Amino acid sequence: MLVYLNGDYIPREDARISIDDRGFLFADGIYEVVRLYGGTPFRMADHLARARRGLDALEIRYDDVDGIADVCDELVRRNDLEGAEATMYLQITRGAAPRKHAFPAPDTPATVYTAVKEYRDHPAEYWTEGVAAITVGDNRWSRCDIKSISLLPNVLANQRAHAKGAFEGLFIRDGIVLEGSHSNLFAVYDGELVTYPLCNLILGGITRAVVFELAEELGIPAREGLIPESRLFDADELFLAGTTTEVMPIVTVDGTTIADGKPGPVTKKLQEALRAKVS
Ligand code: PDD
Repeated sequence: MLVYLNGDYIPREDARISIDDRGFLFADGIYEVVRLYGGTPFRMADHLARARRGLDALEIRYDDVDGIADVCDELVRRNDLEGAEATMYLQITRGAAPRKHAFPAPDTPATVYTAVKEYRDHPAEYWTEGVAAITVGDNRWSRCDIKSISLLPNVLANQRAHAKGAFEGLFIRDGIVLEGSHSNLFAVYDGELVTYPLCNLILGGITRAVVFELAEELGIPAREGLIPESRLFDADELFLAGTTTEVMPIVTVDGTTIADGKPGPVTKKLQEALRAKVS
């Protein structure tokens, strides 16, 4: 398998990062995960726009974010992934420099890594039967809108979910449900979709935006709003939205069954519409 590292296409096992890389030392960087359906990237431009916003917010200099779309195509070609179900991973860090908190010299090149690999799906029942979620306290920083590689609270939340046999941990802050450890959350009340408003406390998911588009196309009312933790359990439907998660029904939270414990009609309609959009 060939990966892209700092301008070169090299065998994965030959890819080397400096021990001084600020990604390694400080988690000083951003990442993106893009889904490729049948070898074609889905919403690449939106992912790259978000990467650019993250780099700007962190003042990391890397001018050729747009070029990553070509890098992705090249990786697909060189790895014989044309037509494949795959994911692209992109990570850009502030580069390698002796460890000091303040930024290194402005001419320090960013470290840019991209790989495309075959996507191993979750079991199909996750989408057809739904998954379990748990609630966890949100102890993340207040710039969750940046897709930072600093993911420890997300890692711990997801691990707690997995340890309890659940798929996702839902972050609760001040009694409000924000999003999952690696996905956005939607609830359905009386046929209307509700999800936490875009702000610094959640990641503005590309799939979240696609769900709003699909809802509009299908005539399903959708709005940004607060979901109090206490109201999670009387939702008619709950689902997660994410690049690899797609639209995934949640059927239990903290062991409590949501509605009748089956994926609901609105979730199913959105799943079908998403499938149609990507095929
Ligand atoms: N996760 N919220 C968080 C905290 C996320 O990490 C993600 C994505 C999302 C959904 O965003 P999008 O629809 O753009 O994938 C929401 C990626 C896939 C990951 O960490 O692997």
